[in-house]
Amino acid sequence: MSEPLRAVRVWDLPVRAFHWTLVALVLLSWASRELDYMELHRNSGYGVLVLVLFRVIWGFAGTRHARFADFLRPPSAAYAYLRDTARGRGQRYLGHNPAGGWSVVAMLACLAVQAITGLFLTDDVLFDGPFHGVLGEQTTHALKKLHDANFTVLLALVGLHLAAIGFYRVAKREDLVRPMLTGVKRVAGESPAGDAPPVGWWRAPLALAIAAGLVAGALSLAPGRVW
Ligand code: HEM
Ligand code: HEM
Repeated sequence: MSEPLRAVRVWDLPVRAFHWTLVALVLLSWASRELDYMELHRNSGYGVLVLVLFRVIWGFAGTRHARFADFLRPPSAAYAYLRDTARGRGQRYLGHNPAGGWSVVAMLACLAVQAITGLFLTDDVLFDGPFHGVLGEQTTHALKKLHDANFTVLLALVGLHLAAIGFYRVAKREDLVRPMLTGVKRVAGESPAGDAPPVGWWRAPLALAIAAGLVAGALSLAPGRVW
């Protein structure tokens, strides 16, 4: 007979809202560049920057599984997890597993590089990023190449991310997507796992305000057109 399952709250609302807004803004950043809507491209890039900063703050101020301390483990732990998984006996983690934890950091870092390099660029036609012209021509050219190449890195990381989720679905028969929508995972009845204790409701708006304030503050220093 199968064991009764119990619902455990894993992903808080700010993590879920962050994730799906991020997906939407990355798609928008890509599509707006393809369609040459550069003002929209710039603004969605600002949005990505605010989200990344928000997530960094939330990594210290959020609920249990949102915290870096919960999922950032030494690279040796990530290696051991991947090795055990390849042998069909990787341990189950309620939050991010040790390899997933590093992929979260890699995606956040890659997104930060993408959005920050963009601030210094021009499309050589009608659009200048707010900090375009601050750096020399050679550096700007290097940043342009980086903005371009880093997007390929981002696509690769997202591809890996989706492949890992697909692997969980097929090989481990675990749906990770639903919990990223509902916040809830199912565990065996006798498992000691419990709900992540809530934190004050005001923390997420405050973290978002700080993140937006930092981006707005940095943009206020720009010599070029910001909006
Ligand atoms: C996560 C956010 C961003 C993503 C995913 C992204 C993605 C891209 C991509 C795929 C390209 C095309 C590269 C090519 O033509 O080879 C591009 C070009 C460009 N992006 Fe972004 N970008 C982001 C943020 C920004 C921001 C914040 C700005 C400016 C404020 C910006 C300014 C530009 C400019 C000026 C170009 C044209 C450069 C060129 O012609 O090579 N981007 N971006
Ligand atoms: C632009 C594309 C995407 C980016 C940049 C991205 C980025 C991220 C990031 C940064 C996290 C960590 C969440 C956190 O702790 O705050 C995450 C987790 C997650 N994402 Fe995505 N994501 C993308 C697309 C998707 C899509 C399309 C799906 C669904 C099919 C998805 C499903 C998930 C799931 C299920 C998790 C939780 C993984 C786990 O249980 O450890 N993501 N993603």
